[in-house]
Amino acid sequence: MIKKLHSHTAEQTLDLGKQIGQAVSGQFSIALIGDLGAGKTTLVQGLAKGLGVDDSYYITSPTFNIINEYPARNLRLCHLDLYRLGSAEELEYIGFDDMMGPDAVIVVEWPGFLEEILFKFDLEIKFEFNEDYNRIISLFPSGQPGVNLVSKLFL
Ligand SMILES: Nc1ncnc2c1ncn2[C@@H]1O[C@H](COP(=O)(O)OP(=O)(O)OP(=O)(O)O)[C@@H](O)[C@H]1O
Ligand SMILES: [Mg+2]
Repeated sequence: MIKKLHSHTAEQTLDLGKQIGQAVSGQFSIALIGDLGAGKTTLVQGLAKGLGVDDSYYITSPTFNIINEYPARNLRLCHLDLYRLGSAEELEYIGFDDMMGPDAVIVVEWPGFLEEILFKFDLEIKFEFNEDYNRIISLFPSGQPGVNLVSKLFL
């Protein structure tokens, strides 16, 4: 099951993220794939809202610190941006293994090195531009948790 939608504004991308956040009820992992400026961090901002992360946190790309973590309901939102990671081995140094856990909602921009070590994502979200420079966002769930979550979204 693949779902595809068009996003004409940042608000629409925020809303998709928010819906995903509201539908998440436990450990979950999301890979965000798309060019610079495609809207990955924007989606994470919506995700944070949907997960109940306090508004006082400002969600930005964790490009320099690589991992940002935010408390959310009974969960933790772990936002990674691996753009500047040099190799899969470096995942150990950034504390990737310690970050995992039954309460971790993991969302990863530039997930290449995690895909390299065959890390399993419940949901892959791809951002593409069409000829009008609008975003086409495709959802690729994998496994039962991913499929269940996508079926709960109003798309
Ligand atoms: N439909 C849309 N969806 C998402 N963002 C949009 C949309 N239309 C315009 N924008 C704007 O495009 C920019 C997207 O930036 P964002 O930081 O989310 O990209 P990114 O994919 O995280 O990039 P990077 O790879 O550099 O981290 C924002 O300034 C946002 O307001
Ligand atoms: Mg970003």
